[in-house]
Amino acid sequence: MTEHYAPGLEGVIAGETAISTVEGGLRYRGYAVEELAAESTFIEVAYLLLKGELPTQEDLADFEAVLDESVDSAVEICDLLSQIPVHTPVMDVMRTGISIAAHYDPHAEDDHDHADADLNKALHLMGVIPLILAFWHRHTQGLELGEPDPERSYAANLLSLITGKVPTSLEEKAMDVSLILYAEHEFNASTFTARVVTSTGSDLYSAIVAAVGALKGPLHGGANEQVMAVLEEIGSADRAEAWIRNALAQKRRVMGFGHRVYKDCDPRAVYLKDYCGQLAERRGRLELEQRAEIIEQIVWNEKKLPPNLDWPSARLYHYLGLDVPIYTPLFVVSRVVGWSAHVIEQSRDNRLIRPRSRYIGAEPRAYVPLSERD
Ligand code: COA
Repeated sequence: MTEHYAPGLEGVIAGETAISTVEGGLRYRGYAVEELAAESTFIEVAYLLLKGELPTQEDLADFEAVLDESVDSAVEICDLLSQIPVHTPVMDVMRTGISIAAHYDPHAEDDHDHADADLNKALHLMGVIPLILAFWHRHTQGLELGEPDPERSYAANLLSLITGKVPTSLEEKAMDVSLILYAEHEFNASTFTARVVTSTGSDLYSAIVAAVGALKGPLHGGANEQVMAVLEEIGSADRAEAWIRNALAQKRRVMGFGHRVYKDCDPRAVYLKDYCGQLAERRGRLELEQRAEIIEQIVWNEKKLPPNLDWPSARLYHYLGLDVPIYTPLFVVSRVVGWSAHVIEQSRDNRLIRPRSRYIGAEPRAYVPLSERD
């Protein structure tokens, strides 16, 4: 057997996908993500990713109707979640909530071959995940959870469920754009996790629970929360240069910078930065944008590392009045679509994912009975 070893699987083609590509800019099913962000909505993009084509108005209405049905089961899920200790981190509650959601899906046992089984499970999750997040966030603050308004967009409902306030049209659009940009990104760590779980013949819920676990890490989805901690630690624009030069001199890893695939520019970060600027101006927070700009320039000049999507999204969520502990859970709200699309794709043309390892352990040796060991 020829041995191919790439630490971290860097550069390895580990499977085929028709869902998205990062070659020549990010495209979902062939459409440039910037065009989708400008022209469409998160729900249209979800349909595109899950079903392969953009929906007609009728398709979209049917899709939304299935989504709305799942909202009822959220009451039982949230009831169970209310038993969890209140200091439990939100990402852990998301993981548990998704696992519980499986028990309230009457079709949870339908296997991958059943027509639309995985699509319906994905819609069930898209319906309940915002409620799980908003419930937990409000519950820990002693606040009641409101109800989604079927007349509002997914993004507007998400924001109003969390904050209890109806968003402005700019806030709604900014959230919608961030959901679109976070929805899918080919074989990233959490998506690959979901595909590995699916490849064993396991179910969509198990794959998504595992993906949430992978997303939680600070080198993946957890970075957006760490970005805000960095910006707060810096404190003001006039301290930014000294802070970042010191951090780089100490070989500190600057959260929100660098990417395994994008070496020159993450197009999602470029796109979202514009919304940060618009919201910062409305909020009178342009100083925070200046702070971020100084860091960006110096990290690029010194390390040639571009900002990734987590860099602007942390500021965007901050301007939307959202608390830091829900930033990575918001990533889940969106990425559940990409994960589900990959579960569907993997199960349609499955082969067990089972690589080899290179052994670097002890040479063969004889067992010494316990009684004879020193
Ligand atoms: N800050 C400072 N240096 C960084 C860096 C960062 N954010 N990201 C990478 N580097 C440096 C590494 O120190 C390393 O330098 P060296 O060769 O002098 O040792 C080099 O760039 C390569 O880094 P490496 O960790 O091997 O690259 P990777 O492809 O494995 O890592 C990430 C990709 C995303 C894990 C990495 O860039 C990172 O940790 N970023 C911060 C976390 C983050 O924002 N994650 C969200 C990703 S969307």
